[in-house]
Amino acid sequence: MTPKRAQEIRSAFTTFFGERDHAVLPSASLIPHDPTVLFTVAGMVPFKPYFLGEETAPHRRAVTVQKCVRAGGKHNDLDEIGRTRRHLTFFEMLGNFSFGDYFKTEAIGWAWEFVTEGLGFDPDRLWITVHLSDDEAAEIWRDVAGVAPDRIQRMDEDNYWRMADTGPCGPCSEIFFDKGPEFGDDGGPAHGGDERFLEFWNLVFMQYDQQPDGLVPLPKPSIDTGAGLERILTLIQGVESVFDIDEMAELVGEASAVTGVKLGAADHSDLTLRILAEHARTMTFLISDGVFPSNEDRGYVLRRIMRRAIRRAYLLGVTEVVTPSLVDKVVDIMGHDYPDIAANHSFVREVVAREEEGFRSTLAQGSQILDDAIDRLGEGEALSGDLAFLLHDTYGFPFEVTEETAREQDVAVDREGFDQLMEGQRSRAREDFDARHATSADVSAYFALVNEHGPTEFIGREFDTAEAVVVAVTDDGIILDRTPFYAEAGGQVGDTGTITSPTGSARIADTTYVVPELHLHHIDEIEGQIDGEITVGQTVIAAIDADRRAAIRRNHTATHLLHWALKATLGDHVKQQGSLVDDNRLRFDFTHFEAVKADQIAEIERLANADILDNPATRNYETSMAEATAAGAIAFFGDKYGERVRVLEAGPHSIELCGGTHVRALGDIGPVKIVSEGSIGANIRRIEAVTGTRPVELLTEQEQLVALTAERLGVPADQLVDGADKRMAEIKSLRAELAELRKAASADQSGDLAQQAVDGVVVALVEGLDRGQLRDLAIATRDRPGVAAVVLGAAPDGGGAALVAAVAADSDLHAGELIAEASATIGGGGGRDAKLAIAGGRDPSRLDEALSQVRAAAGIGS
Ligand code: ALA
Repeated sequence: MTPKRAQEIRSAFTTFFGERDHAVLPSASLIPHDPTVLFTVAGMVPFKPYFLGEETAPHRRAVTVQKCVRAGGKHNDLDEIGRTRRHLTFFEMLGNFSFGDYFKTEAIGWAWEFVTEGLGFDPDRLWITVHLSDDEAAEIWRDVAGVAPDRIQRMDEDNYWRMADTGPCGPCSEIFFDKGPEFGDDGGPAHGGDERFLEFWNLVFMQYDQQPDGLVPLPKPSIDTGAGLERILTLIQGVESVFDIDEMAELVGEASAVTGVKLGAADHSDLTLRILAEHARTMTFLISDGVFPSNEDRGYVLRRIMRRAIRRAYLLGVTEVVTPSLVDKVVDIMGHDYPDIAANHSFVREVVAREEEGFRSTLAQGSQILDDAIDRLGEGEALSGDLAFLLHDTYGFPFEVTEETAREQDVAVDREGFDQLMEGQRSRAREDFDARHATSADVSAYFALVNEHGPTEFIGREFDTAEAVVVAVTDDGIILDRTPFYAEAGGQVGDTGTITSPTGSARIADTTYVVPELHLHHIDEIEGQIDGEITVGQTVIAAIDADRRAAIRRNHTATHLLHWALKATLGDHVKQQGSLVDDNRLRFDFTHFEAVKADQIAEIERLANADILDNPATRNYETSMAEATAAGAIAFFGDKYGERVRVLEAGPHSIELCGGTHVRALGDIGPVKIVSEGSIGANIRRIEAVTGTRPVELLTEQEQLVALTAERLGVPADQLVDGADKRMAEIKSLRAELAELRKAASADQSGDLAQQAVDGVVVALVEGLDRGQLRDLAIATRDRPGVAAVVLGAAPDGGGAALVAAVAADSDLHAGELIAEASATIGGGGGRDAKLAIAGGRDPSRLDEALSQVRAAAGIGS
């Protein structure tokens, strides 16, 4: 029986290559370590350092079913989704890899065997393409696989694969399936219709590293293959599009259930159902891997995907949120093969629900604005960049959502105008970023150093001071054969200290990795260059600032304890998003969807401090990834398969992968105290905490504050609350007394004012009152016998000018009209009420003039 369903194919593939000595590895995270791609766009991304020879591969052969996202950046298929039969933002790539082990012969032979025997494809319907220059591959297809020569065609760029603008690349060879004459012209993939000849497996012969200035041969030729699972399934299941394969069809069904719209009802609603089904997988997997909807980078790609889906559901008239049910279905269908999404299910659900609720609250308004703007456009006019920006900035419409809506009505959008406005908004943030990352380092020279001398040996876990030999002195700093200086990594800052040789010394302000495993000791710019001379080959004393490092160690180990305590208190959805550990404090960012409450903070501190007080020794050791995972170690972004990993066990609860430096026993940390908690983005919280002597210093500061406050209140410190309560009660009763007195005074004043009535109308300027008192006085005056209306003007204490008009119930005069003109005169606007109108203005100097206008309006002359 050949495999047919998605689950069966995944396991048939890994079994086939597993039997051929490939390590079967789990899918890596969608968030790559590699900065040249936004997402994991192919099965080879996690292995890039092995292809380049930057790291030694722990296995010479590997096989994976890798989750991939292509949306944003070079590999961007977002706009095509749902409109074509085969584009997806999320897809699964079956891949077998050789890291300098086997090459073309085996790769081609096994691919052919798996496709024809494992999957049962009819060889007569298969075509092969190879690169123009690749005679060798063509011969292997012919002689090893037995493919007829006229079925092997040659192409140029189409048979060359690159990971990104830079990185590993090489000629490739593709396998195509001929769907038959009803799908288009004959002639094979090189000449025939691309609907008819469907590419489904790409074998890349990795031979080069594309660098910005040219091609560099890789240390060893390697193999990277990629077969789109969804495409293979369309062929095997004999369906027309990726939306008809088993797992996707179920998702389309779910989209139909949540929207209440049947498949086939209309073209545009079918498109929506397909988009919902497709985007459901992308959002579930991205959020599960730690991406959150936001306005930057990956988070923005996710937001675009989600909002596009949500808006389409809204346009179908669906009023309930749809994304949580779609997530449920994805987990239900794929959770077996991807246990992470099952483990993170409730968290992912929570995140999508919040994003959808948030967007829905502005969706109606934004849609109305967009529709109106499109209606108002003249023939051939484009929608302005300003409008697209307003929709983006105020109503949360990603540009693509605006563009898609406009396109459906044949309207273009001024992308340039929009980009300019966005650019203005972003440039500030980017300047900051560049300032932090700028470097003049010539990376390839550093790589050459590693090749020649090997990596820097780090001995800073055992020693603060050590003898070492100078390997290089560059413009940026000093490189040693071994060092006690920790290079910034994993959130822990680099060490500072001194390097001293017999002929000179240098103050070291920071230590970083210039390339993996090479520590660069940065010479302090403020203290200037090396004092004397330090030369290559000299033996030096390298000494870190030991007190500073001790404080860093305390904060780093405390970070682990807090990470555990946060999970224990708030739940397993808490995931590390970043951390910063220096000698003053620790900072920890994590996923959580609301503010951490005061009692939760207290509980987190209690848990961490209880482990510290027990004072167990920490265990910091190297082990294999498999053993670390089995022991339950928490890993931050799981896309590396390094053979040896370093683990820190900090007490009975916390176990994490970590390369940092740590205390020997938890008691060394001293107390840990959280000093702040806040939001730094959608669903991301940040806490800051201090350890060692700092909590005690804080305590002393607080004691001083308490003592000072007690002294001011004139009570002993232990009666502070009582004392404050008493003062508050006193203030309350004094206020009440004052109000009574004011009332009495204003009763007197209202009597005086009533005396000034002309034809029952009082118009007067009063002094020394705030706005509330002015209003009270106007009312008190109005209520005096013989008064039909009163208008008072004043320049209240807080600045500006005020007018209050109050009219008796039986009078025909209109309060709002009495002060209408006058309120403009004082530079403001007034109330329109008939009985009581209040106006505030900017210009007290024109109050007299304003009151004359009131008299004229009341018909009592000026
Ligand atoms: N890395 C190759 C691809 O993505 C296999 O097509």
